[in-house]
Amino acid sequence: MTAVDDQSAANFLIEQKWQDYTEEEHSIWRLLFERQQRLLVGRACDEFLEGLDALGVAADGIPDFRKLSDALDAATGWRIVAVPGLVPDDVFFAFLARRRFPSTCFIRRRDQLDYLQEPDVFHDICGHVPLLMNPVFADYMQAYGEGGLKALGLGHLQHLARLYWYTVEFGLIATRRGLRIYGSGVLSSAGESVYCLEDPRPHRIRFDLRRVMRTRYRIDDFQQTYFVIDDFRQLFDATRPDFAPIYHEIATQPDIEPDGLVRDDRPFNASRSLSAGSHGQKNGLQVVRSPSLGRKRLEDVRQHHNQ
Ligand code: PHE
Ligand code: CO
Repeated sequence: MTAVDDQSAANFLIEQKWQDYTEEEHSIWRLLFERQQRLLVGRACDEFLEGLDALGVAADGIPDFRKLSDALDAATGWRIVAVPGLVPDDVFFAFLARRRFPSTCFIRRRDQLDYLQEPDVFHDICGHVPLLMNPVFADYMQAYGEGGLKALGLGHLQHLARLYWYTVEFGLIATRRGLRIYGSGVLSSAGESVYCLEDPRPHRIRFDLRRVMRTRYRIDDFQQTYFVIDDFRQLFDATRPDFAPIYHEIATQPDIEPDGLVRDDRPFNASRSLSAGSHGQKNGLQVVRSPSLGRKRLEDVRQHHNQ
């Protein structure tokens, strides 16, 4: 099995240098934060909003990772570590397996509020960290890191990466009060946080592990399919079994297109959320259709450019 030792993962660590952020950078954070805060009421799942509250991730500026880590550590034993950008898959998994969340430090420019290529500090911190305050989700992320190292060794990273994409980055959750968002890629995107719940076009399908692993995803537009879980416990339980035989089984089955449907799909009936209609506009919000940030693999980006 591919094993990265702590030392080679540690080679990717940098200092956040919190005191060096400029007033302009903090003000971009505030702009993004306030916009999402407005949009996410009634759209983000309770676990996210509770985590955000408990952490005190603030509207007032880019948070200091050290302070944030202390609060997070006390709740679930996770800490944030600073990295320069996308790190190699094995390094990323090794961090997660040790309950370390690698976050970028830079923030997008004012002329890139809705579109940039790679995750920045707003996506990484505001999108991912609040859910790490939830004990079940915190365990899921660690298990994913361990599973990543294993998938690398088995040559099935592509299948496992889809699980991350369609849960951690773009997942939806069914609650008693309606469909809500828990995926960080969506939570950090103004356009997609409205689109994923209210637009009639994308498919919303009940989570099924094998179905997710077989489904290709788009990195250049809003998603065409979202997978809906009932709660984090269901997600954790469904991903607990040994994936080796599952990889083996789906290796013989064809991939499913990003907008494809298959016979056993159980559609999620989102009549309530969908009829909620246009409160995006009521907020006076211009929805910009640009792809949301998520942890693409370098390979995804390369393939995309070759198309
Ligand atoms: N059970 C998975 C395996 O055996 C590990 C895993 C857990 C992967 C949770 C992803 C998420 O590979
Ligand atoms: Co992400």
